[in-house]
Amino acid sequence: MCGIVGFVGARDGVSILLEGLKRLEYRGYDSAGIAVVGEQQELQVVRCQGKIAALEERLQRHPLAGATGIAHTRWATHGKPSDDNAHPHRSGPFVVVHNGIIENYADLKSALEQEGCAFSSETDTEVIVKLVEREWNLGKDYLQCVVDTLRQLRGSYAVVFLNEKRPHELIAARKESPLILGLGRGEYFLASDVPAILPYTREVVYLDDGDIVCASREGFVIESLDRGRREPNIHQIDWNPVMAEKAGYKHFMLKEIYEQPRAVIDTFRSALDFDKVQVCLPDLRLSKGQIADIEKVFLIACGTSYHAGLTAKYMIENMCKIPVEVDLASEFRYRAPLMTDRTLLIVISQSGETADTRAALQEGLDKGALCRAIVNVVGSTLARMSSGVIYTHAGPEIGVASTKAFTTQLVALYLLSLQLAYSLGRMPQEELSIHIRELLEIPGKMEAVLSGCAKVEDWARQYMHAKDFLYLARGILYPIALEGALKLKEISYIHAEGYAAGEMKHGPIALIDEDMPVVVLMQRGALYEKILSNVQEVRARGGQIIALIERESDAKVGGEDDQLVLPEASPWLSPLLFTLPLQLLAYHIAALRGTDVDQPRNLAKSVTVE
Ligand code: F6R
Repeated sequence: MCGIVGFVGARDGVSILLEGLKRLEYRGYDSAGIAVVGEQQELQVVRCQGKIAALEERLQRHPLAGATGIAHTRWATHGKPSDDNAHPHRSGPFVVVHNGIIENYADLKSALEQEGCAFSSETDTEVIVKLVEREWNLGKDYLQCVVDTLRQLRGSYAVVFLNEKRPHELIAARKESPLILGLGRGEYFLASDVPAILPYTREVVYLDDGDIVCASREGFVIESLDRGRREPNIHQIDWNPVMAEKAGYKHFMLKEIYEQPRAVIDTFRSALDFDKVQVCLPDLRLSKGQIADIEKVFLIACGTSYHAGLTAKYMIENMCKIPVEVDLASEFRYRAPLMTDRTLLIVISQSGETADTRAALQEGLDKGALCRAIVNVVGSTLARMSSGVIYTHAGPEIGVASTKAFTTQLVALYLLSLQLAYSLGRMPQEELSIHIRELLEIPGKMEAVLSGCAKVEDWARQYMHAKDFLYLARGILYPIALEGALKLKEISYIHAEGYAAGEMKHGPIALIDEDMPVVVLMQRGALYEKILSNVQEVRARGGQIIALIERESDAKVGGEDDQLVLPEASPWLSPLLFTLPLQLLAYHIAALRGTDVDQPRNLAKSVTVE
């Protein structure tokens, strides 16, 4: 969703703002813009529909210079992508950039129009800057103008204001949309997300809902809407700028796929006590007593993170013998879910900012559930709202299609499962030790899969023109089939569906013909013979089989060219291995089709509006 960057200092603000926007490109956008106060203290704004490259072209024709400024990438909500709807929006001496949705903008707009205000965009954002100017014309102090404007808004916002009359100052505020303040020496940064400011500082203050920050070269203060001051909590970011770069890969997504063995190690390393051979998740803040009382677990998330939750249901129910419900965050709060103080509600999110997931967590908090989060971004909103957290250590994920965040979520959920089962006395130490040993072997097996995946590129060439794909699996691999289909859809724009293989005969088998590639995930064990029958059913109808199997001896599945043999792993960890060829298949098909792999059309990395 929209990306915001702000800079106040003595350096060339334009290049810092543009670089920041580029580092937020992964969030998804359709237009971009920038505003700075120039040397003659005049406000200059350049904005346009399209990519940042289009903005740069415009800047060559209308060069800007100035130290203090704001910049924005817009993901359209109110009003189509166009030059006029691009941010920053201006009124008098003020400009604003905004991420979020102002729900009462129509009422505010018509009241302003009745007062004679003219609007030049279809956005909800423009009312914000008009309101500030109206307050200013009443003779109020600048900060009070912003406060009195924000008090009139309903909805969500992260906003940064620049005022021509106060050229060395930025005012920013947030409510339910992410915004961080980066601290430099005599300079400050505002941004929607950490990668934008990584080259300049790793000291960050995560703004809370209701915070208003006033930053100038001399320093910054944080106040609330009632004008009370708050002391900032300064966080040290342990990501480095190189982690947010492509490092020679053609796309971020490809780099992130290959980073997975490392990300998985980083995620379990800090959660294992190697001397005692135990899992330790101190940040989760769940006491033995609380664990003993748990009657039900809810796992709530969106998209790929939801698929991680679906996978974990198999682990937790099997190891801990506690019922688990997995819900889409966007549905959860609207179905009046039943919760008590003996319900453990876990939200799963890469960004920690997804609006639906946040609302689901709020529902859990309101109903008194034990609320915890599994998130990748340290200090993100979900992490701060929850009473405890497990961090995945995937590092910055820039490709819009989630890859390493997913596999590290699977590891975090596996660790959670082990911790709960052991603490409940449902997993003896010897069994725990075996599970931990199997986990330690997984990164090596992931490396082996990634280096033995050449065949996947051949499949991509063979099937890149297919119109539809089917992904079939059973048991714990069923959510991985859903994830494989989602990856293909979002980056290659090919229609794909994931199905529990046993469901095929209840409908989807009607789709099978010689043009339909069917990817089958075949795990050894009780369901193997059953899924083999499903494969024969597809074959009998002319479907093209692509099989991922666990052992060479399973060659009877199909011809040598149609199958990829993966290393065997425990049933709970094999999803980590099966996921990798599916990510690569989607990647190579998308790359061959020439789509925008890292920023697929219409998608946003961090979905901060409902
Ligand atoms: C798919 C994808 C999305 C996200 C979803 C949730 O590749 O990236 O489906 O998984 O938007 O995002 P987070 O995990 O940030 O809450």
